[in-house]
Amino acid sequence: YIELEEDGTISIEQAEKTITEKTKIVALAHVSNVLGTITPIKEIAALAHKVGAVILVDGAQAVPHMEVNVVDLDADFYAFSGHKMMAPTGIGVLYGKRELLDKMEPTEFGGEMIDFVELYDSTWKELPWKFEAGTPIIGGAIALGAAIDYLAAIGIDTIHAYEQELVSYAIEQMSKLEGITIYGPTDASKRCGLVTFNIEGAHPHD
Ligand SMILES: Cc1ncc(COP(=O)(O)O)c(C=O)c1O
Repeated sequence: YIELEEDGTISIEQAEKTITEKTKIVALAHVSNVLGTITPIKEIAALAHKVGAVILVDGAQAVPHMEVNVVDLDADFYAFSGHKMMAPTGIGVLYGKRELLDKMEPTEFGGEMIDFVELYDSTWKELPWKFEAGTPIIGGAIALGAAIDYLAAIGIDTIHAYEQELVSYAIEQMSKLEGITIYGPTDASKRCGLVTFNIEGAHPHD
């Protein structure tokens, strides 16, 4: 585990302490679903690669809220869910670097991913079909495409800027209320559209 800083962020210093020559995979969220904090993926990817580890990023809370460039981040794998970005449930995206995916064996088997099949042996089709066993979720893919077009038409930078404005305003107003503790950084630029808080004496399930 990478220890969090006092304000709930993941720092490069803490990551550097945790990632060692023994590390094989670094797995972390781009944006925390607990605090909305943004992780410095590019810098941590560089640390992972320095020791020969791969980095896998969960971008479920990042992709709908901010611009993400997997090549610039140098993420080896990057995953996100369709249903957190206005697409239906049941579809998501896993990006992976070709040289790594080429080396990996499929774990799901079925139609369309086989190249040749014999009685005891099979060979797999090339990427991406090797990982797409069975009938694909065609309706979900069309809907995810429409959701991406919709968000792109508004502009992800516009969405991000608006959310930053809302978060700043929420933090400012909530800080004036008595009995409220806000968790995570108070600087809106360090978080996405989420403010985590506690109301003194109120149980979250009440
Ligand atoms: C950061 C993060 N990763 C993964 C998930 C789970 O995604 P899914 O619902 O597609 O399984 C969530 C859901 O809240 C999330 O916030």
